[in-house]
Amino acid sequence: MTVKTMQTAEVKDLLEKVAGFDQQGGDERIKKIVHRVMHDIFQIVEDFDVTPEEFWSAVYYVGELGANGEAALLAPGLGMDRYLDIRQDAEDEQAGLTGGTPRTIEGPLYVAGAPLSEGFARMDDGSDKDAEAILIKGQITDENGAPLANAIVDIWHADSKGAYSYFDQSQSEYNLRRRIKTDSEGRYAAQSIMPSGYGCPPEGSTQQLLNHLGRHGQRPAHIHYFVSKPGYKHLTTQINIAGDEYTYSDFAFATREELVVEAKRVDQSNEGTKHGVTGPITEVEFNVALVATDKPELQERHARPRALETDAA
Ligand SMILES: [Fe+2]
Repeated sequence: MTVKTMQTAEVKDLLEKVAGFDQQGGDERIKKIVHRVMHDIFQIVEDFDVTPEEFWSAVYYVGELGANGEAALLAPGLGMDRYLDIRQDAEDEQAGLTGGTPRTIEGPLYVAGAPLSEGFARMDDGSDKDAEAILIKGQITDENGAPLANAIVDIWHADSKGAYSYFDQSQSEYNLRRRIKTDSEGRYAAQSIMPSGYGCPPEGSTQQLLNHLGRHGQRPAHIHYFVSKPGYKHLTTQINIAGDEYTYSDFAFATREELVVEAKRVDQSNEGTKHGVTGPITEVEFNVALVATDKPELQERHARPRALETDAA
């Protein structure tokens, strides 16, 4: 039995009172959004004939999601981060700012203030002797291929178990997190260890919902980047290492074809030799093209809560 009540004056009046439409104070935009959100939730209850049992399990799910600290993990799992990127791409297109290396999601595991190096950095603390050594290298250019010196390449990635320093307190401070200033040819390089992909906590709220959707909660091995330079659009992106089981089925929808990078085993890295890194190593090359803009607000990453970040920049 399905009853229809959404069109009644009683429900319309209730929604308007819920959103504070009859009150002077508050924020008009928030009132309108809350009105819409609650209308749509009411509508879902009606359309799907949601039972009280289902409704209260959803309410307590949201409570647990927050208590587990997984709200920012569920968001990419439900495509929200990807959707915001799709919107930003469309805005870029409208503003004539397309081109350059594609953006993709930031994720919730950035930590601000990583050590800054000139041209080259060692990112791992050397404690994981079994990890595969990698040499990350690349050149930052403008859209026409002209090298960009003094760009800041801010890199962070997981360890060989798929865990991030700071959030994994067993790792040393800023392990696998570095900022590198490009040299006069726009080049940067970093010695590090091959990151592992990782999954949502198996008993967590995110995986619990994904199980109901028949979906896995895994991410392929990847390396996060912020790349910035005054006069250019800030780039938030990441590379996925080719060949991972989940390269093309990332639960967070971050994979983009242009961002899949081969890891190549070499006996000696020419780029590594310049920085005293000798012997067999796996090279990961990622070149980035930035798009010029004179808009200051596009030159910085957007504001959101980030670990150890104190200002909005
Ligand atoms: Fe990540």
